[in-house]
Amino acid sequence: MQKFTITGGRRLRGELVLQGSKNSSLPIMAAALLCCGEAALHSCPKLTDVYAASRILNCVGCKCSFSGNTAVIDSRSIDSTDIPESLMHEMRSSIIFMGAMLGRAGSCTVSVPGGCELGPRPIDMHLSALRKMNVDIRENGGAIVCRAHGGRAKGARITLAFPSVGATENVILCAVTADGETVINNAAREPEICDLCGFLRACGAEIRGDGGSSIVINGKQQLHGCEYTIMPDRIAGATYLSMVAAAKGELILTNACIPEMEPFLSVLEQTGCSISTFSGKIYLRSGTRLKAVKDRIRTMPHPGFPTDAQAVLMAALATAEGTSLFEENIFDCRYRHTDALVKMGADIQVMGKIAAVTGRERLHGANVEATDLRGGAAMVTAALCAEGRSEISRICHIDRGYEKMEEAVRLLGGDMRRV
Ligand code: EPU
Repeated sequence: MQKFTITGGRRLRGELVLQGSKNSSLPIMAAALLCCGEAALHSCPKLTDVYAASRILNCVGCKCSFSGNTAVIDSRSIDSTDIPESLMHEMRSSIIFMGAMLGRAGSCTVSVPGGCELGPRPIDMHLSALRKMNVDIRENGGAIVCRAHGGRAKGARITLAFPSVGATENVILCAVTADGETVINNAAREPEICDLCGFLRACGAEIRGDGGSSIVINGKQQLHGCEYTIMPDRIAGATYLSMVAAAKGELILTNACIPEMEPFLSVLEQTGCSISTFSGKIYLRSGTRLKAVKDRIRTMPHPGFPTDAQAVLMAALATAEGTSLFEENIFDCRYRHTDALVKMGADIQVMGKIAAVTGRERLHGANVEATDLRGGAAMVTAALCAEGRSEISRICHIDRGYEKMEEAVRLLGGDMRRV
């Protein structure tokens, strides 16, 4: 099993080109099932989750190939609607293939995506929304057998109990080829939803209102192939900015999605870093000790503070002057990284959904284990500003979402190796 070794304490300085978004790539790859043609996806990050999605596509008969950061998916030759449990279990977001397969073929057999490091992640909203679209869904052991009556889902008015990203994506994917109009109320407003809709529109879908709480979709008989560039990864951006803020130094982040990163940038700015933005670039300078963030950092659906950036910002604030308070409102179990940060000298008290982080002037290196994707990234952030050497194991979690993180850090002058 591979590990990262990091010797902290070096200032970081340089320019990074932001990778394409993981959380856009996965639903867009699923959406490629819907176009009876070839989809060429540029800026597709090379991540283990992306490769897991390509194994699902290959397994149902698509031809999926990669050349640099372009993925080409030809879905003309699909010959199966069953996704085996072993592939469904490789990543939690495999569940979005349910809506896509229903949209393409009117039926599918998938399975419950399995356990997750962030606590229970039910799919009740996905199932009840698709049932409203005239899809019969039977759960048989671990298998979920879905069949649209008459072979094609029907448009419906759907109100989600919570603006779930995955449930919104599943409904969109099923609705773009359904019979009639679908309205999703209380839809997720995350930028990755807009990116998915942008891709689907390029394939001929009729969708309006994405980015707002009500999305309206008029189903088409068929979609076609297209060429599309995936949006930059706002969470990878937040991660590298947090690393440089914590380790001190300067970063120019190019290919950044500035408006989409605003909810994160406005909080990071309160730590005293200097941040400016110009034509797709974010420039950060961090010189003196960070300051604690005064207002409680509440994770909320977009445009609130993103839950995916909670852990990395917490690692940076572990060395800030004063106490910062986090409130995690999206997932029940998203503080699992705090034990590792405490082992590195951080002062963090967790009480239910609140975490109080009192900054220490210095952290020290330690041997820790990545608990989940963003938690692992937080450990790297802490290790980069800690004194001495750290070893981070179970980095398979980190490779799910960051393209060659160690190379990006080395480019900035950090001492980080994969061994
Ligand atoms: N939920 C339910 N029932 C459902 C669906 C969701 O109770 O049917 C709950 C979840 O358990 C969770 C909350 O609703 O507590 C939010 O879940 P949501 O469905 O919005 O999240 P997701 O679609 O499973 C995506 C991202 C996550 C990101 C969340 C929130 C992808 C592949 N994953 O997950 O990304 O944290 O939205 O923004 O897009 C990550 O990248 O590290 C990551 C975990």
